[in-house]
Amino acid sequence: MSEVLCERLVKIYKTGDIEVVALRDLDLRVDKGELRVIVGPSGSGKTTLLNLIGGIDQPSAGRVVVDGIEVSKLARRQLVEYRRKKVGFVFQFFNLIPTLTALENVELPMALVGVPKERRRKRAIELLKLVGLEARMHHRPDQLSGGEQQRVAIASALANDPPLILADEPTGELDTVTGKQIAELFRRLRDELGKTIIIVTHDVSIAMIADRISRIRDGKIIATITPAELEVAEVVPKEGYEIVKMLEERREQLKREIAKLEEEFRLKKISADEFVDRYSKLKTKLEEVEEEISKYSI
Ligand SMILES: Nc1ncnc2c1ncn2[C@@H]1O[C@H](COP(=O)(O)OP(=O)(O)OP(=O)(O)O)[C@@H](O)[C@H]1O
Ligand SMILES: [Mg+2]
Repeated sequence: MSEVLCERLVKIYKTGDIEVVALRDLDLRVDKGELRVIVGPSGSGKTTLLNLIGGIDQPSAGRVVVDGIEVSKLARRQLVEYRRKKVGFVFQFFNLIPTLTALENVELPMALVGVPKERRRKRAIELLKLVGLEARMHHRPDQLSGGEQQRVAIASALANDPPLILADEPTGELDTVTGKQIAELFRRLRDELGKTIIIVTHDVSIAMIADRISRIRDGKIIATITPAELEVAEVVPKEGYEIVKMLEERREQLKREIAKLEEEFRLKKISADEFVDRYSKLKTKLEEVEEEISKYSI
């Protein structure tokens, strides 16, 4: 279990004369044993954030602290050590070695840190059992389905028993049903193995098993909510949930009142002063209602 702390993280990419600010003063805290989902538009800095937490890249400013280790200050050698022992990565495109079997793919990270053959084979088999793939352990990636490949990739991420799992769109290439199985697997990694997990995803079935969901925009976390709040937001517009229905009715009513007021003014039934006064009040109310409605749309 790991605790992850990001403080005022800034990441600026420089390509020739062009600078891209990918993260701007981003703050994030993920508790030990928490499953946190990160959502946000393309280019908002999600992958950049995972790379900084995982020690794949270094921030331009700010700090990343994982279990008291200031990752953003580690030297290259220590970073390699940190990545191998503390972090398990899961990517969208499975990241398996095509010429190796499932078993060998899971053994590989252990081989890299010098675990003896016998022990790593035993553990790889256990891990493949955990993800439900013991019957497929001698298959190569191209002989496995997408969901099976991702399960091998997850087993491989768990090989050195890292307390922290980082996943970037792990179900991006999978159909909904398979995506649900992978979500279920992540849930078990948290509940049964006590892993701290951070997942970048657009997948609602993963978001629903999260402890909290953080929304990132333009390199900053702009909101953190619970799955229950997301459910309200996701389900409401479709299912016609009471609150949004009421708000939408209220919005339509206000729009009608504004139209009526404009008509009265046009027909000179009311003075300009009265019009401006009543118009600005109605507009303010309308904005409030629209603001409220927008809270329910994700
Ligand atoms: N190596 C790089 N060099 C220059 N700019 C980069 C680099 N990596 C990312 N960027 C830029 O930084 C910004 C954030 O990119 P990032 O990959 O973190 O976004 P993302 O939220 O993961 O997007 P997506 O949902 O499309 O994967 C983008 O504007 C991107 O173009
Ligand atoms: Mg990305």
